[in-house]
Amino acid sequence: MLAIIGGSGLSGLANLEVTRRQVLRTPYGEPSGPLTFGTIAGRPIAFLARHGYGHTIAPHEVNYCANMWALKDQAITTVVSVASVGGIAKEFGPGRLVLPNQIIDYTWGRQSTYFEGPGAKVTHIDFTEPYTPGLRERILVAAKACGQEMANGAVYAATQGPRLETAAEIDRLERDGASLVGMTAMPEAALARELGLEYATIAVVANYAAGRGDSVGGVSMDKIGVVLEAAMAKVRKVIEQLAAQ
Ligand code: HPA
Repeated sequence: MLAIIGGSGLSGLANLEVTRRQVLRTPYGEPSGPLTFGTIAGRPIAFLARHGYGHTIAPHEVNYCANMWALKDQAITTVVSVASVGGIAKEFGPGRLVLPNQIIDYTWGRQSTYFEGPGAKVTHIDFTEPYTPGLRERILVAAKACGQEMANGAVYAATQGPRLETAAEIDRLERDGASLVGMTAMPEAALARELGLEYATIAVVANYAAGRGDSVGGVSMDKIGVVLEAAMAKVRKVIEQLAAQ
């Protein structure tokens, strides 16, 4: 079954016909909120709001271990995460949908593995391709089928937040090879891999990153809400198409 993790701007799926909500507990604590189960285009689908339904959990406070564990526990095999990001590369302006293919992790202090603690065997996952190639392909096909433009491939820099970056930090991320910046890709992607879940992210550009484009003098928080609302309508269409495939 497919699950969607909604980020900022996507705290629910308007096109989801809800059948039940379930509060879950895991060995890692409580997920960000109850899992919502329902159907889209007649197909079963689950939804989890990453920041909680009232948008109260900051990126560095999200219990990623509990979230991914809860999904796995509910027989989810495939996770599409939706994440709002800042655009570093010129072509990734506000409102664009991007399907990243790589991650650089700058986060710290987050519980980022299931493979630790007393008695846990030392285990290393292959993470060369952090996003599941087959799932990325299916998302691209879905986007095309419903006429939504989606850029294929970007390097997502995962920062700690919750503050946005300085202009110099964005310059450094670009020198490192990053074209998008967000706060939630890690450890979410790595935990998905540890659990054997298919995982990919639809990144929604909310703003130009600090010091870029119309954010040269600062990032306007007022504009972000408007941009995300319009862009999430496109994301919902892609998800509907993906569910129907
Ligand atoms: N930086 C980090 N995360 C973000 C941004 C940004 O500019 N916009 C949306 N999420």
